[in-house]
Amino acid sequence: MIPILFMLQEGSMSVISTSLATMASRLVSLSALALIGAGSMLGFSTGPPTQRTGASVDGGANCTVCHRGAPANADQRGRLTIEAASYRPGIKQTVRVTVEHPDALRWGFELIARYAGNETKQAGSFTPTNLTRVVCGAAGTPAPCNGDREFATHTSAATLLGSNGRMTFEVEWTPPTEDIGDVTFYAAGNAANNGGGNTGDMIYTSSTVVRNGVGCSLETPTIREVSSAASGAPNMAFNGLTSVYGTNFGPAGRSRGATEAEVRLLSFPKQMDCVTVLVNGKPAPITFSSAGQINFQAPFDQLNAATVQVVANRGLPNERASTAFSSSISPLQPALFTFSGTKSVAARGPDGSTPVALPAVVPGGRPAKPGDMISIFATGLGVTNPAWDSGDIARNASPLQIPISVEVGGITVPATDILYQGAAVQAISGLYQVNVKLPASLGAGDQLLVIRQGGLASQTGVTVPIAP
Ligand code: HEC
Repeated sequence: MIPILFMLQEGSMSVISTSLATMASRLVSLSALALIGAGSMLGFSTGPPTQRTGASVDGGANCTVCHRGAPANADQRGRLTIEAASYRPGIKQTVRVTVEHPDALRWGFELIARYAGNETKQAGSFTPTNLTRVVCGAAGTPAPCNGDREFATHTSAATLLGSNGRMTFEVEWTPPTEDIGDVTFYAAGNAANNGGGNTGDMIYTSSTVVRNGVGCSLETPTIREVSSAASGAPNMAFNGLTSVYGTNFGPAGRSRGATEAEVRLLSFPKQMDCVTVLVNGKPAPITFSSAGQINFQAPFDQLNAATVQVVANRGLPNERASTAFSSSISPLQPALFTFSGTKSVAARGPDGSTPVALPAVVPGGRPAKPGDMISIFATGLGVTNPAWDSGDIARNASPLQIPISVEVGGITVPATDILYQGAAVQAISGLYQVNVKLPASLGAGDQLLVIRQGGLASQTGVTVPIAP
C-alpha cells in the first residue's frame, strides 16, 4: 500500500510535514466523514445545527448526518455552487449559494467564511435577514457572534422559495476591514423533497477561495535563490518541487500551505494570498507561501533556460513584479526530502505511516530495522507513466520512465527490492515515492542513503536511522 502524503510546508531546505500529511488523508476521506457522529432526530423547524458544511476544520460533518440516504454529492443531477467575488476590506458584498436538483421542492443551506490561512478563524461577518439566519459557534447561539465562528443558514421562510429545480440563497457578507489574504467559503445544501422529514433529500457540498481584490500592500518582491525544495540544489527540475527565496513575497508573519478547499478540484492554486510565481511568464502551482519563501512546482512542458518572477497583486493596479531571475529546468535532478532541518531522509515505515526517524528528529518516529520495507520521498525524478501535469494530484500508481538505483550504507539494493518508484499517489505530482526493502545485512546507526538516476546522484550526507 502506498501511503497518502501531501508536501506543502516550508523549511530551511526541505520538509515533508507530518502534520500536513494528515490533510491529505482528510482530502480523500471526505465521503467517509459523513459517517461521523450520527445526530439526534429532534424536531427541526428552527434550522440545521452548526458545523455541518463538510469543512474538515469543523469536524467534516455535513447534513447527511441526519438527512440520510446517499452520501453528499452522490446524485450527479444536482449540485451546490458558491459565487463570491474577490473582496474589498470592509465593503459588504452578496455571496450566492445555489442548490440545484430537478426533483427538489424545498431547499436549505449552511455557509461559513474563514481565513484561508487559518480556517479556525472567522472571516468577516454575515448579516441576518428574513431569509438568512446567522448563528454562532458549536452551540448555535444567535448572532452577533463577536468574533466567534458564524454559520449562515436558511430561515424556514426561505426553504420554499426555489423554483425550476433550484434555489439561490443570497447572503450578505462584510469582509474584515483589513487585508487578511484569501478567504475560504464552505457550504452544504439540501435539495429536499418537502416530505416533512429527513428522508429522500439530496445533500451537496462545495467550497471556494476568494482573493483580496485590492491586493496586499507589498513592496516589490526580490528573488535571491531558486532551488530544489528537497535538496537545495540550485535551479529547477521537470515538474520538480522548488523553493524560491527572497523578500516581500507576502505580508510579514503570514505563512500558509495550500488548503483543502484550494486543492479540492485536484489541482494546487496558482495564486496564494496576493502572490503568483511565474516561470517563463506562466503561473506555477503553489504549495506554500510566506514573506521570504514560496514553494511551487516547476512546469511540465518546458526545459532548459527559464526565468522565475514573483509577482504581488498580479493584474491589479498595485501589481509589483520582481525582476526576472535566470534559472533553468533539467529533465532530472534527483533530490531526497529530509525531515525538517535535518539530514534524516523523509521516510515512512512498513506500516506506511510511522515516520522512519529518531524520536528526537520526529516525535513518534522509529528507526527502521534491516530488511524493512520503507517508503522514501524525493523530487526531480522526471517523467512518470501516466504523466501528471504540474500542480495535479497523482491519482494512481505512476512508475518512473527512467529507473533509479538505491544505495544504503554502501550496499546497492537489488532492483527487485525496489518495489515501487514513481509519483506518490494522492500527493502533488512533483512528489515521488520509492518503496525499498532495506538490505538485511545493514548495521545499526545512521546509514548513508543515495539514489542515482541517469548518471546523477541525490545530495550527499542524507541518512536513514537503523536499529536492529
Ligand atoms: C440534527 C439532525 C439534522 C441535521 C444535521 C440537518 N437536518 Fe435538516 N432536518 C432535520 C429534520 C429532523 C428535519 C424534518 C423536520 C423539520 O422540518 O423540522 C429536517 C428538515 C430540513 C429541511 C426541510 C426539508 C423537507 O423536505 O421538509 C431542510 C431544507 C433542511 N432540513 C436543511 C438542512 C441542511 C441544509 C442541513 C445541513 C447544513 C441540515 N438540514 C442538517 C434534521 C437535521
